[in-house]
Amino acid sequence: MKKFIFILCACLVVLFVVWLVLRFNKTNSNEVVYDGGYVASVADESIVIYDIDDLEAQAWEVIPQGGFDYIRGGAETENTMKRNEMAFDMVDIYPRVLTGVNEPDITTEILGIDISLPVIVAPAAAHGLAHVSAEAGSARGAAASGTIMSVSTYASSTLEQVAQAGEGAPQWFQLYLSKDDAANRNLIKTAEDLGYRAIILTVDAPVGGNRVSDARNNFKFPLAMPNVPKKSGKTKGQGIGAIFAAAQNELGPYDVMYVKSLTDLPVIVKGIQHPDDAEIAILAGADAIWVSNHGGRQLDGAPASFEVLGEIAERVNKRVPIIFDSGIRRGQHIFKAIAMGADVVAIGRPVIYGLALGGWRGVVSVFDYLKADLERVMWLAGTQNIDDIKNINLRKRCETKWCE
Ligand SMILES: Cc1cc2nc3c(=O)[nH]c(=O)nc-3n(C[C@H](O)[C@H](O)[C@H](O)COP(=O)(O)O)c2cc1C
Repeated sequence: MKKFIFILCACLVVLFVVWLVLRFNKTNSNEVVYDGGYVASVADESIVIYDIDDLEAQAWEVIPQGGFDYIRGGAETENTMKRNEMAFDMVDIYPRVLTGVNEPDITTEILGIDISLPVIVAPAAAHGLAHVSAEAGSARGAAASGTIMSVSTYASSTLEQVAQAGEGAPQWFQLYLSKDDAANRNLIKTAEDLGYRAIILTVDAPVGGNRVSDARNNFKFPLAMPNVPKKSGKTKGQGIGAIFAAAQNELGPYDVMYVKSLTDLPVIVKGIQHPDDAEIAILAGADAIWVSNHGGRQLDGAPASFEVLGEIAERVNKRVPIIFDSGIRRGQHIFKAIAMGADVVAIGRPVIYGLALGGWRGVVSVFDYLKADLERVMWLAGTQNIDDIKNINLRKRCETKWCE
């Protein structure tokens, strides 16, 4: 009996060790090891997607824990992050059926750029955490999907590498203002020379949000951010808090005017969550407004982005286009955001997960999934094209007699 218990315990210990190795090492032939030991995917295949939410669990399998938590995480309790997706359920699509809709047309236009669906890539730092091709891979996927790639100042690829991978497809550059004037001028000039077609000025990150999992993991970026001006100090081996601290931490309407004065490209102000800020940004010269709470990564306790979209769209009153992000995971979300006043929406984490699981082809799979899902929703809702969506009214939950 004793012998049996001993063998049983030994087996359990072996199983536990195997689990630990798989849980924390997660290495296989589909990965490369960066200098410093961080392991990144080299996957290069289309992925089968039944639901974008599944991707997160699959991406966990291939992205090392620190990198995965940085990508997935939100600020503090993550309530705002969770609400981003839940908020879409506060309203319903009131379907019309006898409308003669056939093969809905999901193509649209934003700032003079034609795109194959009303979904673009949101700027996100450090795609190199997910895949060795980094933002260059995402750019190739976005180009193949017929949509816009936005590149963060904190990208792992250089602006040149991203432009090259996009092969002339539309790309926007997202700027975190540096404290150094010359560095801002240089970055914008580089983006202009490389053919980027808009500057996104992100204004919701004067400091980093309190991302608890990054603190617990003591997460430091294993790769450099080659577009960050040298004067801001090194980026490899730093946490996101230190990187934000080196950027400009005080932002006002004069910063929008300042960026406008540096470029003839359209300037999009990203991170708007209040109608008054939309107004201020427009008066300061913004060519478009990007409604976003940074995917719930900055101020926990703020409303879901979708909850504030309607009020902002009302105030903007079509003076400039509206881009919307935070929580978009399915066709009905895209539909509802457009019906609520967005011109196009953007996705952050789903692109990175697609990249981790399939490289640029995985990014294409994400957009293919959203295209098919949006088309289906439009068909079932009785809307032929994007303008039709803009003209419908969503129905607030509880507008039925049951809620009276
Ligand atoms: C890993 C990660 C890094 C991000 N880095 C940036 C950034 O460098 N600049 C920026 O403007 N927004 C950044 N964002 C916010 C995204 O642009 C976007 O607002 C957000 O991801 C949208 O939410 P979603 O991930 O639910 O689609 C980042 C988001 C993630 C997930």
